[in-house]
Amino acid sequence: MGSGALTRGWDVRVAAIPELAAILASDFEHEGRGALAAHACFSVALPGGSVATELFPRLSRAAFDWSNVELFWVDERAVLPSDPESNYGRALPLLLRAALVPPERVHRMPTDAADGPLAARRYARELEDAAGTPPRLDYVLLGVGEDGHVASLFPGHPVLDAPATVAVIDDAPKPPPRRMTLTLPVLSGAARIVVAAFGRSKARAISDALTKDDSALPLAKVIRGSARVMFLLDQGAANLS
Ligand code: 6PG
Repeated sequence: MGSGALTRGWDVRVAAIPELAAILASDFEHEGRGALAAHACFSVALPGGSVATELFPRLSRAAFDWSNVELFWVDERAVLPSDPESNYGRALPLLLRAALVPPERVHRMPTDAADGPLAARRYARELEDAAGTPPRLDYVLLGVGEDGHVASLFPGHPVLDAPATVAVIDDAPKPPPRRMTLTLPVLSGAARIVVAAFGRSKARAISDALTKDDSALPLAKVIRGSARVMFLLDQGAANLS
């Protein structure tokens, strides 16, 4: 797998993390300008995990007017926003405050709500208000688990077949078990999908999704059928080291 290689129409970039962060910021600026030229806002969904930690600081400095962004999350753990495990909590200093994203543009997943399914339906409505019905997000950024999960869509989990827009699960194999997630149709239907992965532990899942037509990994299911996918991989995730 070489840097810049095109695999089945997918753009695969292999570089050190600072360079990947710069590529993401530039792609985000480009896609954002395109979305704003086409319609009123730029709808975006973000992950947590190492992608947030490594890429959000540079993304926060993207040359982009964040007042035109509608920011969602691809998933969230059922913890308070103040918990270190919260995807929203991680984004707060690294991106939201750093980029001065207007609070009214920020759509935190309400995993602390008492009624999870109701909260998921409300989040789906917020998403539809910004991205249409069914929602077509302009930009989805995803991390990848070692098992090939993306967002909180885990291999073999029944929620992979859920027709809903937003789902609650209480049996995630990665702690914490209770989470909220955007579903497969929403993620795979995004206008632009960017997948970021760092470290050798991710290489098998990445290779499987990139090369096997019949891969059952959630990552493969999300990108299958979408030509506008970019992979941001360090050497370990690309299996080059
Ligand atoms: C989450 C994430 C999840 C994450 C992957 C990879 O809430 O757990 O959104 O989908 O992106 O598990 O996480 P790392 O990059 O930290 O390994």
